[in-house]
Amino acid sequence: MASTDRYVVRAPGRVNLIGEHIDYCGLSVLPMALRQSVRIAFHPRSDQETRLVNRDPRFAPSAFAVSEGILRAPAGDWGNYARAAAQALAQRFPDLRGIDALVESDLPIAAGLSSSSALVVAMALAIMHANRVTVPSLELMDLLGRGERYVGTAGGGMDQAIILGAQAGCASRIDFHPLRLTPTAVPADWQFIVAWSLVHAEKSGAARQAYNERTRQCDEARRLVATRLGQRQDTTYPALLKAAPVEELLQVAGATLSDVLSRRFRHVVTEGTRVPQAEAAMAARDFTAFGELLDASHQSLRDDYEVSHPELDRLVGLAREAGAAGARLTGAGFGGSIVALCRVERAPEVVAALRERFYAPRGAADGVGRHMFTAEPSAGAEVLTPGASPG
Ligand code: GLA
Repeated sequence: MASTDRYVVRAPGRVNLIGEHIDYCGLSVLPMALRQSVRIAFHPRSDQETRLVNRDPRFAPSAFAVSEGILRAPAGDWGNYARAAAQALAQRFPDLRGIDALVESDLPIAAGLSSSSALVVAMALAIMHANRVTVPSLELMDLLGRGERYVGTAGGGMDQAIILGAQAGCASRIDFHPLRLTPTAVPADWQFIVAWSLVHAEKSGAARQAYNERTRQCDEARRLVATRLGQRQDTTYPALLKAAPVEELLQVAGATLSDVLSRRFRHVVTEGTRVPQAEAAMAARDFTAFGELLDASHQSLRDDYEVSHPELDRLVGLAREAGAAGARLTGAGFGGSIVALCRVERAPEVVAALRERFYAPRGAADGVGRHMFTAEPSAGAEVLTPGASPG
């Protein structure tokens, strides 16, 4: 059934530098793509069947037929991310044929680095390539952002957008209404370090419920504050931030919302203002200012948004003590990874300190190369030359 043509597609993971838990509020974020990626070597098939084999033995082979309504595998099954991509495309293009695919990844799983969205994007590009169909880049970002909700997470659009649209050497500000990516070069003497907390943040498990709860709380807080301000209920967060100064919004929120909703709201609007400040600090190479914004973001995520974890807080503290200018949890939180900023020449010291003071006491010093790495701002997803090795 499979043709002999063999292609390879690569989709990188991402690290979000700042702008956490606000993409689903329509506020801008500032991520960059990583060198680590999901790669799929595939053959187009002549029927709709799709067969996936993962080089990682933890993930069993998965098969389904590409259609507009693909039955879900049980929650937590990795094959659902491939199904999400296939269904989203099938709803747009009739009669798509499937692929035989070999999947591999050097991205840490459930570590807040978007390994799952990288799989969605890689799968979509593979199916599109096999069928010789194209979707304009911004439209594809949007299609896959919505398409990934198939797995049950009410996610925003950051991950798919940066995975598809990243530029090497740059972080990108992503605006959502309308969707747009604006790159800023990462200064050559800045080094972002990514370190995993050793705590899995399974998007399909408890973290999903907590994540979805945050999206609902933000929505409710937004509606109540908008109403109190005499605005329409469907006023968006970007519109609220344009309508009134942050201090006034916080005051209104404090007088209108429950304690929990008020803190969720405070995270969203303050994080929303940190993103353009961080982008400006990066453009101006203001290392100290960027570091301070990372710290403020972490504090807000920990105290107001309550998505941190003691192991993330510990890593953040250790990174700062070791000389990082700032550090914060990255991704959805509840476990996963931190991102820390230091000068390039200081990176080995920070890495050594985290190895000795975080990983060694937890018996994980041996795997440290997998748990912690220096992040290289990389290019977005691409189909590589036919016949290229997936490795
Ligand atoms: C997950 C989601 C993103 C975003 C982050 C938190 O990665 O997929 O859309 O909401 O969490 O910033």
